[in-house]
Amino acid sequence: MAKSSFQALPGTRDLQAPDTERMRALVDVFAEEASAAGFGMVIPPMFEDVRVFDRLGEASDVVSKELYAFEDKGGRQIALRPEFTASVCRMFAEQRPITPWKVWYSGPSFRYDKPQAGRYRQFDQVGAESIGTNDPDVDTELIALAARFYERIGLTNVTLLMNSLGDAADRPRYLEALRSHFEANLDALSEQSRTTLAVNPLRVLDSKRPGDAELIEAAPVLADYISDEAATAFERVCSGLDLLGIAYERAPRLVRGLDYYTRTTFEFAAHGLSASQNAVGGGGRYDGLIAALGGPEEPGVGFALGVDRTLLACDAEGVFGAPDATMNVWVVSTSDGLEALSITNELRRSGLRADRSFDGRSMRAQMKAANRSDAEVAVIVGEDEAANQTVTIRPLRTDGDQVTVPRAQLVPAVKELLPS
Ligand code: HAM
Repeated sequence: MAKSSFQALPGTRDLQAPDTERMRALVDVFAEEASAAGFGMVIPPMFEDVRVFDRLGEASDVVSKELYAFEDKGGRQIALRPEFTASVCRMFAEQRPITPWKVWYSGPSFRYDKPQAGRYRQFDQVGAESIGTNDPDVDTELIALAARFYERIGLTNVTLLMNSLGDAADRPRYLEALRSHFEANLDALSEQSRTTLAVNPLRVLDSKRPGDAELIEAAPVLADYISDEAATAFERVCSGLDLLGIAYERAPRLVRGLDYYTRTTFEFAAHGLSASQNAVGGGGRYDGLIAALGGPEEPGVGFALGVDRTLLACDAEGVFGAPDATMNVWVVSTSDGLEALSITNELRRSGLRADRSFDGRSMRAQMKAANRSDAEVAVIVGEDEAANQTVTIRPLRTDGDQVTVPRAQLVPAVKELLPS
């Protein structure tokens, strides 16, 4: 076969069934859980004014290196969304819905990341945000939503990591302490982290470069710098998780890769995946983000789960396979009338999964297609059936006899032959 002149770009994939069906089933589970907890679906645009994403952090990779930003034909500086939270907050600031505003979403995000297994330039997320309440029980509610989702899809080997970043006012003191710590050991720090340090010392804690690990391990911890209020709120979230039986680990150096976080931050790590790509989801509070986008001083909290990575984690655990896509009925017709068209339509309208062949194939070729589809029965219309207004129904997976019934009896006769 001639090679196509084009290939999907690096970090993008052509997905098809059964992978797409599996993805859709996963999103359906999330949608059910989110909607049952009072979250309504939002669909923000996939691209925004580039400045909407400024607050993700100039020292974060997501903004400094990975943003798909360009000028549109109207001379606007725009960017494909690298995540949903900033868009959802822009939407809140613009639309001013009634609070608390609880929303969920699903769809692709774009990051010019280094492509590898579990890391793509276009990837899908599902997520939820709750805007307009400071109550730490909302943080717990969101984490519980993610936990129920994992439970429903059968993923068990996931650890919830919890930390608090304190309030914006707690930050300068901690940043100073971090800066002094790293500056005192500048020689030991990687080149890249030295650059990061100059912009935001917090981001140095995100460094996965092996040389930095020891210095990061010895760095001051945030918990010693956060206000009593933030500490009390964090303990409330943790006792909520205890009450709900949701296991977690405290991770005092978890800062996450985006700059907008305050107070509660969390991440879900899947042990089935390699360490650098094991974050299947994460989130936290972002109490200043809406105001920074020109909105009111409303707090917010949320999380997003990577759909592709979650499915890889499911593969590693052998759970949540592709949904059953087999047909109930395959319609086989050697008459040259329109019977196959109307019969297939009637079966589908009755709620059955039905398909057929086209192109006037031979009986043999059509039966082969029927068997390949794993359909339970074939509905056959030859010249005789067409002339007599009947259909023949043949079980394909059991030894039962075939029956010929009046055309008008099609649906009940097929349903009778299908396993219940
Ligand atoms: P994030 O940690 O940047 O957070 O992304 C959430 C999840 O998206 C990650 O845990 C990962 O599973 C998946 N992900 C991220 N980048 C890639 C990639 N290049 N390829 C495949 N999967 C990827 C956020 O996006 C925040 N908006 C979460 C949030 C919501 N915080 C508050 N509300």
